[in-house]
Amino acid sequence: CGIIGYIGDKQTQEILTTGLGKLEYRGYDSVGIAINDGEAINVTKAEGRLENLASKLSDKPLNGTVGIGHTRWATHGRPSDENSHPHTDETTDFAVVHNGIIENYQDIKQELIENGVTFQSQTDSEVVAHLLSRLYDGDMISTIQKVIDKLEGAYALGIVSKYEPNKLFAVRQASPLIVGVGEGENFISSDIPAVLEHTRDVIILEDSEIAVLSKEGVSLLDMETANPIERDVFKVDWDMEQAEKNGYDHFMLKEIFEQPTALQNTMTGRIDQDSQMVEFPELDWSEAKVNEWNKIYIVACGTAYHAGLIGKHVLEELTRIPVAVEVASEFRYRRPIIDEQTLVITVSQSGETADTLAALRQSQKMGAEVVGITNVVGSSIAREADNVILTMAGPEIAVASTKAYTTQVLSLYLMGVYAAQKKGQITEEYRKELLESLLKTPGQIEESLEHIKGIRWYAESIKDAQSVFFLGRGLDHAVALEGSLKLKEISYIHSEAYAAGELKHGTLALIEEGTPVIALATQNEVYDKMIANIEEVRARGAKVMGVTTEGNMDIYHYVDETCYIPATNNLFAPLLSVVPLQLISYYTSLALGNDVDKPRNLAKSVTVE
Ligand code: G6P
Repeated sequence: CGIIGYIGDKQTQEILTTGLGKLEYRGYDSVGIAINDGEAINVTKAEGRLENLASKLSDKPLNGTVGIGHTRWATHGRPSDENSHPHTDETTDFAVVHNGIIENYQDIKQELIENGVTFQSQTDSEVVAHLLSRLYDGDMISTIQKVIDKLEGAYALGIVSKYEPNKLFAVRQASPLIVGVGEGENFISSDIPAVLEHTRDVIILEDSEIAVLSKEGVSLLDMETANPIERDVFKVDWDMEQAEKNGYDHFMLKEIFEQPTALQNTMTGRIDQDSQMVEFPELDWSEAKVNEWNKIYIVACGTAYHAGLIGKHVLEELTRIPVAVEVASEFRYRRPIIDEQTLVITVSQSGETADTLAALRQSQKMGAEVVGITNVVGSSIAREADNVILTMAGPEIAVASTKAYTTQVLSLYLMGVYAAQKKGQITEEYRKELLESLLKTPGQIEESLEHIKGIRWYAESIKDAQSVFFLGRGLDHAVALEGSLKLKEISYIHSEAYAAGELKHGTLALIEEGTPVIALATQNEVYDKMIANIEEVRARGAKVMGVTTEGNMDIYHYVDETCYIPATNNLFAPLLSVVPLQLISYYTSLALGNDVDKPRNLAKSVTVE
């Protein structure tokens, strides 16, 4: 979900709704705003997209100079007008927007109902508004403290109160929240882009903090003691333009095309051209430390998890340290074997994914060194990891991740070479060969993006398929998983990725006449095996598109279509082979008339577990 809040002299309604537009990638099941006009708090909310709210507001605008807004990704209670935020108490003395989950809301709700409170929604969030009303003691800060005392779970809150029409309150407990500092106006938001057109001065709230905003200023307080806290203002140095569409029809297409630049930026300053060595000034890895590690975990969710799967191959290959890749929501609830000799790498575009963050904290507690690979400066993972590698992808808006994935993969490559350097486990010759190839990849992607016509045609040819299969071995299998996820996310076509050799142990039953199969065959060592697997599916009627490297004429004998990627070192083929797969999913989704950037049921940043 996304939160925005404003206090100042401008048209609050307008500022809140445009801010919400920038936050839609955090969820878009429903939206709402609450504005205090000095006498009363007025609330308008709507199920569905921002347009629905806008049309309600054009009939009946809300006036006032302090307000909060919210765009929702449903957790408790289906998307509906009533379940939309802001939530209020019975007399609308308080309005609240909430991100996260109040874990003990059932108990609180029960108690409130027993005390005669009527609930409007099925959400966990509504309890906060009623608690504020019940516990109000004439002072907002002490009231908020009393409310917080009752809450368990993760939450970021924005609060307006009829009793303090010149204040806006915010609370952060394990769910991201920032304050935008303006002149004669101030903002709260769950993310920086929503305030960027108004100010570049940002304060990042830490857990257990309350922020009190007036037109004139911002103060931070410790949640428990109410003691004031000093915090430096952080200057955002990236442009809002980078977060706009720039002439592309969709953010996803724009972001696919930004990959050459994103990769270039991620390499800049990390490969020394003279010595041809990887440099990571941000990693304080001594030789002794690196030599101590006897196990590596890569922990992430979604696409970042798939980047981790590539990382496993590369890190094992280059360092010979065993690597396990795990989905964060699984990892955190079992008892992983971690100690001081374990390196944990958490990968997260947003740096806020709740499960990944929990895995990071758990690993640190158990003594592991944690590196965070993230795209967002100042995010929770960036702040809490022992060392941080920033992917320089720039803001990624489309829910389906593209440039964040390739820059995560690249960061893991660089990290692999760096660790191998530290361990003295890579020859100069091999290192130079690898880095030379790596430096060429941005240009190679650029080149392959020029030949997208054929891909569009292919995408249109599979749009009515019941099911699509992606096959590969080794690194190609990891890429197949990502290609399949991309297709599912935005085209809603069922798809599976399979280790090609495993298909015959069950999944082959699903192949029938005309089933589209996308077979990746970029890895020399297993090329012949892959061809054998392609033959297996073709014998059962599959229509196969082969993805392989330029110059491979042999593949023509075995497939119906071919998609070439530029020739590169086998280790780096994923950076190139994922690009046509991203485009296939983009054009399939487009051909089906889906909302490419905002696929149903999903959200870009998931800050609930
Ligand atoms: C959400 C997004 C996915 C993303 C995953 C992990 O589910 O829809 O595209 O891969 O979160 O996000 P992160 O920000 O941690 O990389």
